[in-house]
Amino acid sequence: MCGIVGYVGKKQADSILIEGLKKLEYRGYDSSGIAIHNLSGIKIIKTNGRIKNLEQRISEKRIEGCLGIAHTRWATHGKPSDENSHPHSNKSSTIAVVHNGIIENYMELKEKLKEQGYEFISETDTEVVAHLLDLHYKGNIVDALIGTIKELKGSYALGVLCKDEPDKLISVRKDSPLIIGIGKEGNFIASDIPAVLEHTKDLYLLSDNEIAIITEQNIEIIDINKNKVDKEIFKVTWDLVSAEKAGYEHFMLKEIEEQPKVVKDTLYQRLKPDSNKINLDEINLDKEVLDKINKIYMVACGTAYNVVVVGKYLIERLARIPVVAEVASEFRYRDPIIDSDTLVIVISQSGETADTLAALRLAKEHGARTIGIVNVVGSTIARECDDIFYTLAGPEIAVASTKAYSAQLIAMYLVSCYIAMQKGYISDEEFTMFRNSLLNISDNIKQILKDENKIKEISNKYKECSNVFYIGRGLDYAVAKEGSLKLKEITYIHSEAYEAGELKHGPIALIHDNTLVVGIATDENLFEKTMNNLKEVKARGAKILAITILGKEEIMDVADDVIYLPKTEWIFTSILANIPQQLIAYYMSVLLGHDVDKPRNLAKSVTVE
Ligand code: G6P
Repeated sequence: MCGIVGYVGKKQADSILIEGLKKLEYRGYDSSGIAIHNLSGIKIIKTNGRIKNLEQRISEKRIEGCLGIAHTRWATHGKPSDENSHPHSNKSSTIAVVHNGIIENYMELKEKLKEQGYEFISETDTEVVAHLLDLHYKGNIVDALIGTIKELKGSYALGVLCKDEPDKLISVRKDSPLIIGIGKEGNFIASDIPAVLEHTKDLYLLSDNEIAIITEQNIEIIDINKNKVDKEIFKVTWDLVSAEKAGYEHFMLKEIEEQPKVVKDTLYQRLKPDSNKINLDEINLDKEVLDKINKIYMVACGTAYNVVVVGKYLIERLARIPVVAEVASEFRYRDPIIDSDTLVIVISQSGETADTLAALRLAKEHGARTIGIVNVVGSTIARECDDIFYTLAGPEIAVASTKAYSAQLIAMYLVSCYIAMQKGYISDEEFTMFRNSLLNISDNIKQILKDENKIKEISNKYKECSNVFYIGRGLDYAVAKEGSLKLKEITYIHSEAYEAGELKHGPIALIHDNTLVVGIATDENLFEKTMNNLKEVKARGAKILAITILGKEEIMDVADDVIYLPKTEWIFTSILANIPQQLIAYYMSVLLGHDVDKPRNLAKSVTVE
């Protein structure tokens, strides 16, 4: 989704802003632009396409100036084009604005502004903000911004420049992410931390409708009534190297290979090798609380949603509490039955996904207890849920999520097991088995990664297929969903995940010669059943790629290719089965020549509905 960077300081702004935008490319975008205050006025350059097009335009006519804002746009209102790119300005170009979010009442505001003589040159919702700022400007840009946001409905992170206030960068946010970077030679705004990390690790995290008035020397934060807000400095604990490719061809491959470490880090913060308990002390889930809980909603989007499907199987199986796993965009509008006896667990890598955040707020409004499983420290969801479980995946840059998914699964297993223990459903013996298997997962993943070349060959064999079905039962089905999502995200091959037993109720009509079916069959108890389903599709001409565990060699009777996973307790194989799925999607995408890290139309952090 859109990326914002702003700078005011001693240095030339243009190159700092461009480098910052490049660090936000992972968010997904289709055009970019920059506005620089060069003391005589505000100069804007913007263009459709990649940031290199913008760089080219800037190199043709460099704009001197140490104050500026820049933007990458992911089109929502109006096609990607030069006119629709940000920054937008008022007619006299005395005010420039960049925006991330959606102004929901922009049509209404546009009509009102048109009646007052304002002319619009873009199709965007953002342009109303530029004209509203003009309308409200009476010699003080902060007052103009306050007047403007009082009229806005929807979500926004805004960066604003004003010709007549040449030392100030103004910013505000509501329901869209924005951080303030506190530098030594100037200060910054940005949609995400990597954009400022080269310059500073000290940040302020803005809350909704807090306004930052930023100069080279000073950062003042006020609320909408102009009361001063005191903020603590938030210190970033990771460095730029963690957010760079480190010699890998793509971020996605680097992140896949980081999984043994990520899994270990996430696990060890909660489960020590010699301990007989899971440490979730600060998450208030003691027996008394849990005995009152009669239902759990687990809510998320995208890959994180596929984790909650695993979570449903786990919690119901281990802790015997009914769980509804639901995508956040549905949950938020269907009036779900929530009260103080409901536990709502939301999962989000970024902690900023608009629908997940809205689902969390809805749950809180209805009095539910809320837990967030979030990767980005200090993100909005992390700050707003009652209790937080941080996954320790580090920054994930590739749009297609890999290491965050594995870390979220670990969190899910720990939370499920913890709840089951609190409720007395897991014996000491079972816990020991559970602990030992979990502690081995990191090594199991390392072992699978050693098979990378074989998986690459398999990917080459099937890369031309146009339809793929991923099938499995139970936890294998939950994993199949993630395999299918990963494939379609980065290879653009049509794929669907089905509960293996459901195939014969419709989708089997689509199976014909050479349709690829990826069969996940790691659950001992359901192995025979899945085998039968694979035979059914084989009989109709499908090619079968099976993912199973060592010792299940009989699958070769039906499969064209098999990937074996190391043996572990069946309940954990879902973590392992996903690793080859990630590699298959990755290699197919590379072999097909796609932009693996920045797939078309997708955004890493979906901060609008
Ligand atoms: C986008 C990303 C996905 C991600 C989903 C949810 O669609 O492309 O990779 O799974 O958002 O994001 P979250 O940050 O809430 O996990």
